[in-house]
Amino acid sequence: MELKQFEKFKFNQKFISDYINSWKKNGFLIFDNFFTNNECNKLINRSTKLLKKIDLKNKTIFNTKNHSHSSDNYFLNSGDKIRFFFEDGVFDKKGNLKIRKELAINKIGHALHDLDSIFSNFSRSKKIEKITNMLKFSKPLLLQSMYIFKQPKIGGEVVCHQDSTFLYTSPESAIGFWVALENATIKNGCLWVNKGGHKGPLRKLYKKSNGKMIMKELSAKPFDKVDLPLEVKKGSLILLHGRLPHQSGHNSSNKSRHAYTLHIIDGKASYKKTNWLQRNKNLPLRGF
Ligand code: FE2
Repeated sequence: MELKQFEKFKFNQKFISDYINSWKKNGFLIFDNFFTNNECNKLINRSTKLLKKIDLKNKTIFNTKNHSHSSDNYFLNSGDKIRFFFEDGVFDKKGNLKIRKELAINKIGHALHDLDSIFSNFSRSKKIEKITNMLKFSKPLLLQSMYIFKQPKIGGEVVCHQDSTFLYTSPESAIGFWVALENATIKNGCLWVNKGGHKGPLRKLYKKSNGKMIMKELSAKPFDKVDLPLEVKKGSLILLHGRLPHQSGHNSSNKSRHAYTLHIIDGKASYKKTNWLQRNKNLPLRGF
């Protein structure tokens, strides 16, 4: 029964042209019931196992407001590793966790898709490959993966941004695959987007300059209102254009909002050496 949910996407000429038109117009796409409950649960269970491996020596906070992680080597060297990042305010002055680590965690990143077989199989599923074919990637490369927890009452806000700011290629090619592993609602911090906002300029570039990360302004044009909440059910896939302004709120509810995100770039575009995320030579980027 669950398999039919994906099979209803025919990927025929009409389906593809409707979706591509909507993609070009709005800068995002939603595929309801794209993944089965079983597929989502596999990732949820795996994340629970991974959390057991947290080394509490590293207390890197992931904060999109002040970018405190930007000067932190544990973060900057995580592009080809599986590492753990915490929510703001979860450590006391002595550096001890004030709450259980399972609740204090913000995310796991950024090479789950290459280093963990369960995440690799999910990320390299035929379903995702079909989407990259539809979007006409000439050489899709799986660049970055994150398991985002957004725990009840704790999961922090992610401020408005464009993904190409952080994953810049020339020409721009990054596309975000955002999978709801649990129902995402306004209350538990679903994504919000500025519909059509991908047609605007790239505002900022997060780049390495003189050995440290800086946020360079490319355009002073303010973001338009990010006023469309994308409330989706467990198993939905949301595609985000690299220039689409998006954000998510604090989780003020009693329910978690786990999500898995994968960013894919086109290997025919050049990936910048000044991007924060770099790979060791023995773990090159791969496609499907
Ligand atoms: Fe994003």
